[in-house]
Amino acid sequence: MTLRHTPAAQSAGSEAGAAAVSVRATSKVFPSKAGDVTALDGIELTVREGEFVSLIGPSGCGKSTLLRLIADLDTATSGTIEVFGKPAARARRDQDYGIAFQQAGLLPWRTVAANIALPLEVHGVGSAQRKARVAPLADLVGLSDFADRYPDQLSGGMQQRVAIARALAEQPRLLLMDEPFGALDEMTRERMQAELSRIAAETGAAVVFVTHSIPEAVFLSDRVVVMSPRPGRITTVISTGFGGDLPRADSLRETPEFFARVTAVREALHGAPVPGAGREQR
Ligand SMILES: Nc1ncnc2c1ncn2[C@@H]1O[C@H](COP(=O)(O)OP(=O)(O)O)[C@@H](O)[C@H]1O
Ligand SMILES: [Mg+2]
Repeated sequence: MTLRHTPAAQSAGSEAGAAAVSVRATSKVFPSKAGDVTALDGIELTVREGEFVSLIGPSGCGKSTLLRLIADLDTATSGTIEVFGKPAARARRDQDYGIAFQQAGLLPWRTVAANIALPLEVHGVGSAQRKARVAPLADLVGLSDFADRYPDQLSGGMQQRVAIARALAEQPRLLLMDEPFGALDEMTRERMQAELSRIAAETGAAVVFVTHSIPEAVFLSDRVVVMSPRPGRITTVISTGFGGDLPRADSLRETPEFFARVTAVREALHGAPVPGAGREQR
């Protein structure tokens, strides 16, 4: 079995050559008695197949809301959202993407292997086939020796690896991740970033990745999307230029190019002009 998705594995109905994610003229308003909250306004975003895009911005700027709209966990007030050329709701039914959040959200009474297998079980994949899929996934996230352990026997980083393997169980062409490493210490976090870069390269999946961390966004991404608060808008999109360089080497973090991109994202976040970074087609 290969972990890389193939055209044969693509769900029926997806348009050939369609972007992984297409968000057009999208807004989201949360009504409230104290006055409506415009969480997102005029969002335009395209994520190409296999592309790694981070969303970064101050707390409350609508990053999680945008991810939830793409995942069809909530509906937009206006606009159009497509995943692989289909409406988000259809993509959700077709299991076109995997999701991982800040909390690993593992079932404590299930082993590592059984947690990874959960989505397959829910969708009626037989036991033999589940076993055949779980082994390479556990291997991919470096947990082959821990398949029979329970979540409370694992470190936070290991639990997050299980969550990533579970998100990959159905070989999605898209991963949606909301601060998946937010609860980890800095050392573990950097290790997980390198792992995720390798996993994204090996599976060829597109990733939409929400983070607070500038270096994390720069290290992982082809493009970093900078958002402003209330109403949440995309203010700047910065291409890292590290795109084809996969998987990322840890040494990248010490290069002048890396520092330059970190500075560009920081200035964009703080509203300063970003010379050369420019606004680009998104
Ligand atoms: N279910 C909800 N009901 C009302 N307001 C919400 C809801 N979810 C988010 N918001 C508001 O929308 C804005 C954006 O939230 P969120 O997407 O969680 O931001 P971020 O993930 O960037 O921190 C915030 O002002 C938040 O209070
Ligand atoms: Mg959030």
